[in-house]
Amino acid sequence: MATVRDLTTTSITEAVLRQMSETPDPRLKQVMECLVCHMHDFARDVNLAPTEWLKAIEFLTKVGQTCTTARQEFILLSDVLGLSALVNLLHDKTTVEIGTESSLLGPFYRRNAPSLELGASIASRAGDEPELLLYGQVTDKAGEPVPDALLHVWQADTRGEYDLQKFHGEHMDMRGVFRCDEEGRFYFRTVKPLGYYIPMDGPVGALIRAQQRHGCRPAHIHFLIAAKGHRELVTALYLAGDEHIDSDTVFGVSSPLVTSPRDSDPDAPIRGIPAIRYNFRLGRASDNETGRVGADPAQILLADIASVQKSV
Ligand code: BEZ
Ligand code: FE
Repeated sequence: MATVRDLTTTSITEAVLRQMSETPDPRLKQVMECLVCHMHDFARDVNLAPTEWLKAIEFLTKVGQTCTTARQEFILLSDVLGLSALVNLLHDKTTVEIGTESSLLGPFYRRNAPSLELGASIASRAGDEPELLLYGQVTDKAGEPVPDALLHVWQADTRGEYDLQKFHGEHMDMRGVFRCDEEGRFYFRTVKPLGYYIPMDGPVGALIRAQQRHGCRPAHIHFLIAAKGHRELVTALYLAGDEHIDSDTVFGVSSPLVTSPRDSDPDAPIRGIPAIRYNFRLGRASDNETGRVGADPAQILLADIASVQKSV
């Protein structure tokens, strides 16, 4: 058994694991042991130099310093490394019955969006720009309607900008909350969103440029759907034909979520505008876990406040 005095590039891993072996929380023990093994393997594999280690520390420091109450650069880092999407995929696999695929929450979700009547438009400039209708039904996995589900929707505008970027939080646009009817049906009007760049002015943007990646997300509309007794669904619908549909910088696209508007849909509840029909399937509720993987700084701030309050 190696002592902590005679360490080699391989025995150090075992020495660290031994020091952590009394961790009482079994999940913390498992996660940290695995993390140490992977980190040590990584350092050995790339033969990590001290200057590179320092560069990584400087990078992570900048990531932390870029975080504010309105911006979560660590989650953005997780997004561009595919970790957020992987956590979503793992989460989707945890229920026996899987509903609609999830997708990232993203940094532009806001909880207090206006409540709107079915059929209303979420776009304040709807009169000036070509409109789009979204409609469908919220069901359970067996296709049974889920009555009265709450459907939160938010998206970028026709220029690829969110209200938060345009109005700096001063007023809301391109978002709303709808209550589905007793058959789980919903419909609302909007305008066609454009794809956009993830926030590129911080350390994650610098990394994206260093890797010669485009930094774009394909056009999409976000949804957060909640109904009693069902698993909350965080997802997005993507528009077919977007040039970045197969190279999303944050890996949020999956085939079942790609949609195309139909110019004349005989079943659409409002005629004369292109329509996307999509039925969302909710899984059954399990514990009180959340599927909100993505940058939601407000949530993190609230969690932070709660834990500070608990500890004083
Ligand atoms: C978004 O869809 O809004 C988004 C998701 C992850 C990173 C940046 C933006
Ligand atoms: Fe988005």
